[in-house]
Amino acid sequence: MKFQDKVVVVTGAGSGNGRAIALHFLREGAKVVIADINVEGANQTVELSQKPEQTLVVKTNVTKKADVENMIAQTVSHFGGLDILVNNAGIVKFSTFLEIEEDEWDLVHDVNLKAPFLCAQVAAKEMIKAKTRGRIINITSVEAHRIVSSSGHCQPHYNSSKGGLNLLSKAIALELAPHGITVNSVAPGVVETPFTAKGLENPEIKKWILERVPVGRIATPDDIANAVAFLAMPESEYVTGTTLFVDGGWTIY
Ligand SMILES: NC(=O)c1ccc[n+]([C@@H]2O[C@H](COP(=O)([O-])OP(=O)(O)OC[C@H]3O[C@@H](n4cnc5c(N)ncnc54)[C@H](O)[C@@H]3O)[C@@H](O)[C@H]2O)c1
Repeated sequence: MKFQDKVVVVTGAGSGNGRAIALHFLREGAKVVIADINVEGANQTVELSQKPEQTLVVKTNVTKKADVENMIAQTVSHFGGLDILVNNAGIVKFSTFLEIEEDEWDLVHDVNLKAPFLCAQVAAKEMIKAKTRGRIINITSVEAHRIVSSSGHCQPHYNSSKGGLNLLSKAIALELAPHGITVNSVAPGVVETPFTAKGLENPEIKKWILERVPVGRIATPDDIANAVAFLAMPESEYVTGTTLFVDGGWTIY
């Protein structure tokens, strides 16, 4: 059991990558807070885990500071501390640059960039207070590093929010290093989740993606969970401020 009795918070753990990350930690003995705006999805994750005694569902809108403070306070009061935070909750909107409305711009940046800031800040204060050599892992994307477009346009607000999160991770890593807290990013390529389901139903889009992925398959949520687990292990304590690409080799080119 690699994470026996470690306390982990996973945001957006009611679906896709977040669910796989939560289930991985639970299989390895951790106590996991399943934080999601979608309680039904969060409860399904608990059911799938078959380890309800190791879980706590906290309904959280990660864009609201009061919700984030409640999420961390409930974690500490229920499980006695906090070792690992995974900022996974994220959204994408497929509007082009010329179509994006102000509300949509704000929503994408609130969920993908402001929320990881809020969660990391509240979690780090708790870790420092308890002298915990904690881990913060942010889920970014290959789209934090490059433009991905099969149609002549991309999702500029998704790119800028994930690109911002990539640099925010490095900035936080610098400040938290003296406290023994590491901060890293995991950058997935395309993963089979509800997030990508519609696109992957289109054979032309799927073919376009597979032509760019040297390993020749779409990622599974477990591929992402395995990378997150590596960055949370004691053996990776000298790794901070970096990005682990889990993209089947897409960014080799
Ligand atoms: N699926 C991919 O191909 C892919 C690729 C690169 C990066 N990512 C990233 O992985 C992460 C997870 O994506 P996924 O594919 O599992 O998506 P998903 O849509 O399956 O799951 C996202 C989860 O986040 C939750 N969420 C959304 N807004 C929230 C909020 N305000 N507060 C709390 N929870 C909220 C949703 O309810 C959902 O359970 C995201 O950050 C995404 O950008 C996904």
